[in-house]
Amino acid sequence: MSAIELYARECLGFEGRVQQALDVLLGAASSYANQVVHSTSLGVEDMVITDLIARHHLLIPSATLDTGKLHAQTLALIQRTQDRYQLALEIYHPIAESVVLFVDLHGEQAMFQSVELRKACCGLRKMEPLTRMLAGRRAWITGLRQEQSLNRTEVALHETDSQGRAKLNPLAHWSWADVWHYVHLHAVPYNPLHDEFMPSIGCEPCTRAIAVGEDFRSGRWWWESENTKECGLHVSDPIEPLIEVKT
Ligand code: ADX
Ligand code: SF4
Repeated sequence: MSAIELYARECLGFEGRVQQALDVLLGAASSYANQVVHSTSLGVEDMVITDLIARHHLLIPSATLDTGKLHAQTLALIQRTQDRYQLALEIYHPIAESVVLFVDLHGEQAMFQSVELRKACCGLRKMEPLTRMLAGRRAWITGLRQEQSLNRTEVALHETDSQGRAKLNPLAHWSWADVWHYVHLHAVPYNPLHDEFMPSIGCEPCTRAIAVGEDFRSGRWWWESENTKECGLHVSDPIEPLIEVKT
């Protein structure tokens, strides 16, 4: 069964939540003209946002962090998205020398050795490129939803991040059924890994399928305890884009 068959359902208030998301995006395009970016992981929530932006011809660019550890299906979706919506995604890569040095020192499996090394890997592959993505921008848009985890129940439509930047989460109040109903209605392209029981998709080594009844994000960094399971993109005290790789 596909993710659409499994999850898409029209719930009470769906149209209102679509309008609410659109209002956030319209507000972002006018309040932060040329200084806002949609940060997309190519996960299904971000595909909905990309569709809304394109459908309503909003002048909001989309950018992604290619950590060098993404699944082939995610990389393929970058091209599918560009073709479908006739746009060029901004793609941010980690600094090659930092990656080489880190892997030389700690190996390709460093993330499984300790929380510190896992965070260091996220620091150089995600946090440092994110800093470049957001440089010179006053606002960013994410696909965060309250329902995604216990750490995200307070996610609001409009927030301010630790750098004082506006952080907008247009799908904050959407349910998983809403997301898939929208995908179904508008034939939004999505990552086929969602059909393989991966609701939340990150880097390949750090993502696995979940079983029935398991938590939405339990397939991310599954070997760590619940309170360490954020990569730093969305914590108020972010991981420094460090690391011991400075020469
Ligand atoms: S994470 O912090 O655990 O990695 P998650 O995968 O739930 O985050 O994604 C939440 C939001 O963070 C996405 O909707 C997107 O806005 C942003 N995000 C996550 N990963 C990336 C990425 N590789 N590139 C750009 N944005 C990302
Ligand atoms: Fe490294 Fe895993 Fe973090 Fe990706 S999610 S940057 S592979 S530790």
